[in-house]
Amino acid sequence: MQEMKSSTNKLLDDAAETLHQAANESVEINTIIKEGDPADQILRYAKDHAIDVIVIGSRGLDGVKGLMLGSVSHKVSQLSDCPVLIVH
Ligand SMILES: Nc1ncnc2c1ncn2[C@@H]1O[C@H](COP(=O)(O)OP(=O)(O)OP(=O)(O)O)[C@@H](O)[C@H]1O
Ligand SMILES: [Mg+2]
Repeated sequence: MQEMKSSTNKLLDDAAETLHQAANESVEINTIIKEGDPADQILRYAKDHAIDVIVIGSRGLDGVKGLMLGSVSHKVSQLSDCPVLIVH
C-alpha cells in the first residue's frame, strides 16, 4: 500500500509538472488521490466541487484493444451531471 501511494504521488507530481509547463501562470493545478472505484470517485468529486467539465482519456492502461471506451470513461460519461470531454 505504501509503495502504491508513493508511486502514485510520483505519477501525479510528474503530471502536475507537465501541466505547469504547458499552462499559463493563472492556471491553478491541484492533484488529489482518492481510494475506491475510479469512476465513482471522479463522479463524486465533480458533483461535490461543482466541476464545469470532466476531461478524461478514452482508454487507459488495462483495456482490451479495439474497444472505443474503457469502463471508467464509459461510466463517467454515462452518469456525469456535467459535460465530459473524452480525449482519444
Ligand atoms: N484509476 C484511475 N484514476 C484516474 N483516472 C482514471 C483511472 N482509471 C481510468 N481513468 C481515466 O479513464 C480513462 C479511460 O480509462 P479506462 O480505465 O476506462 O480504460 P482501460 O484501462 O483501457 O479499460 P478498463 O480499465 O475498462 O479495462 C483514462 O485515460 C483516465 O483518464
Ligand atoms: Mg483502466
